Amino acid sequence: MSEAVAGGPQRVAVVTGAARGIGAATARRLAADGFAVAVLDLREEDTAGTVAGIEQAGGRALGVGADVGDADQVSAAVARIAAELGPPLVLVNNAGVTRDNLLFRMTDADWDLVMHVHLRGSFLMTRAVQAHMVEAHWGRVVTLSSTSALGNRGQANYATAKAGLQGFTKTLAVELGKYGVTANAVAPGFIVTEMTRATAARLGRDWDEYVAERAAGIPVARAGQPEDIAHTVSFLVSEGAGFVSGQVLYVAGGPRG
Ligand SMILES: NC(=O)c1ccc[n+]([C@@H]2O[C@H](COP(=O)([O-])OP(=O)(O)OC[C@H]3O[C@@H](n4cnc5c(N)ncnc54)[C@H](O)[C@@H]3O)[C@@H](O)[C@H]2O)c1
Repeated sequence: MSEAVAGGPQRVAVVTGAARGIGAATARRLAADGFAVAVLDLREEDTAGTVAGIEQAGGRALGVGADVGDADQVSAAVARIAAELGPPLVLVNNAGVTRDNLLFRMTDADWDLVMHVHLRGSFLMTRAVQAHMVEAHWGRVVTLSSTSALGNRGQANYATAKAGLQGFTKTLAVELGKYGVTANAVAPGFIVTEMTRATAARLGRDWDEYVAERAAGIPVARAGQPEDIAHTVSFLVSEGAGFVSGQVLYVAGGPRG
């Protein structure tokens, strides 16, 4: 039986989309902070690298395969996490996709997939996990928004989803606060991951030139790294952040989120 199920001090965190990028860095960071971490992504085999990295560093992790937008897969995944690691009390809604196009070229499928993963996915995961948080009278939900929530050319679908997640977060904070649960959103600016590499490729841009150009427009004069976001999530899920709820924290190297 796991330490957490036995009533030990180790809390369980779930990070979605944690096979790579921001999710992987966040899973590693939360493990280093002392959480047992469920590393969830579409395919369990893709989580092996993140899980191995955590275990090599002395942490505890479980790889779980699920589509966050599929209700049956989500309930099975959360039940497995509760049984194998312990009741999840921290949730990081990080799984994401882009299907960028100008509005007149955006297909129904481009729109629907982005809503499926970001909005339906965060809804299903949070609804499944909150039962454990309410029972424990303690919980932390952190959801990945984006500076794109403020409007971004070619991202009508993604900007809508990321703005929607801010409303979702504020409502979670209002509903769940009395159960000791906080909910916050982190809205990154430009972060170096496979997602932004794919954007550069779609625009036909050389990666290094693209990063340099983006960095030149950022006040701290560099691109963001996944660890910058992991650090922010670490703060928001910490014990001491219990009076921070319903907030959107732009992590963009400058004030203009
Ligand atoms: N990279 C950036 O500049 C940036 C900026 C703002 C916000 N974000 C957000 O941060 C989050 C992580 O982005 P990233 O750059 O690390 O992206 P990424 O593409 O590198 O990783 C996303 C992960 O989510 C997983 N995923 C996709 N659909 C899923 C589903 N239905 N179920 C489960 N897992 C799924 C993917 O398999 C992948 O491992 C996303 O929500 C993204 O929108 C990223």
